Amino acid sequence: MTSSTTSSTTSSTTSSTTSTNTSTNTSTNTSTNTSIFQNWTEAHSAKFRKENFTVNHRLSETGLFTDQALADLLDRHPPHKLDVMTMGSPEGPYPNALRNGDPRSCSGRFLIEAAKAGRLWINVREAMNLHPEYQELLDRMYGELAERTGVRRYKARGAILISSPTTVVPYHCDARDTVLWHIRGQKTFYVYPDRPPYLPDAGYEAVVLQERDEDLPYHPSLEAGATRFELEADQMVSWVLNSPHRVENQSYCVSVTTEFSTRASGFKNAVTVTNGLMRRRWGMNPSWYNDAPATKMAKFVLGRILMKTSLYQHCLRKSYMTFRIDPSQPDSIIEIEPIVRHL
Ligand SMILES: [Fe+2]
Repeated sequence: MTSSTTSSTTSSTTSSTTSTNTSTNTSTNTSTNTSIFQNWTEAHSAKFRKENFTVNHRLSETGLFTDQALADLLDRHPPHKLDVMTMGSPEGPYPNALRNGDPRSCSGRFLIEAAKAGRLWINVREAMNLHPEYQELLDRMYGELAERTGVRRYKARGAILISSPTTVVPYHCDARDTVLWHIRGQKTFYVYPDRPPYLPDAGYEAVVLQERDEDLPYHPSLEAGATRFELEADQMVSWVLNSPHRVENQSYCVSVTTEFSTRASGFKNAVTVTNGLMRRRWGMNPSWYNDAPATKMAKFVLGRILMKTSLYQHCLRKSYMTFRIDPSQPDSIIEIEPIVRHL
């Protein structure tokens, strides 16, 4: 998941505990002359968006991701752009599906402590865009990526993910190019091929039509295609567009996830809107994988039109909050009657 409604991935370092570094109203600690990356080579440039790989960065040196800095950030962040989530049942076709909690009236410090004690996945959506010192860092991150890869950035967005030692992020894919900048802690990242059976047509259509966050149907047999990365502090993982992935935390984690649109993702998503509506409205069985280029182009044009119509808008679902947060409770969770969440 990404920096949109539900996004994914995280990281943190060992005990991390309470840092004394505030930093919220100051510029970042790393010099703007210092590279964001520790060991980027031409081989990484060649692999970007074409292969899955990890590389080391220096985001922890900025001081922007300590517990104190994050608590201060949470206190300033717009509540409607904050997802505090927990995992559902580990059984069924969508194991560990995330559900929303109600973070209203929780202080930043309270949320940090709840994440350490509980089973939470906190997504501070657009944190890297809405706060000047974080936006400055995001500009450096993507400026350097663009310089090293030649990939032009389109409206890069970034979220900060804060998650519990027991957090798992379910099997899902992101509809735009996404990068996970793990900063603190350890987590295991599993990534899968961007084709069936790992990425089925109907499953990706459901993601683009926002029917159920970014979740994809999962079965243990998919593990045969998994590539596994053990992420340590200050390690970035980059993967091929739309490749399904899932995450298992090994400790309390802090990460940044960034996403950006490209011509390739915009094209595929417009085609997928057409295919999704063909399947759901007209009972057809289209496939991204089988269409000829000319067919895809026609569906792209139609999809751009459909996205402005009620046919597409009616697919978008409501979001609900189903629990409150309290670190004194098991998993930091108190169940409540579902209430509609206004994004
Ligand atoms: Fe993701």
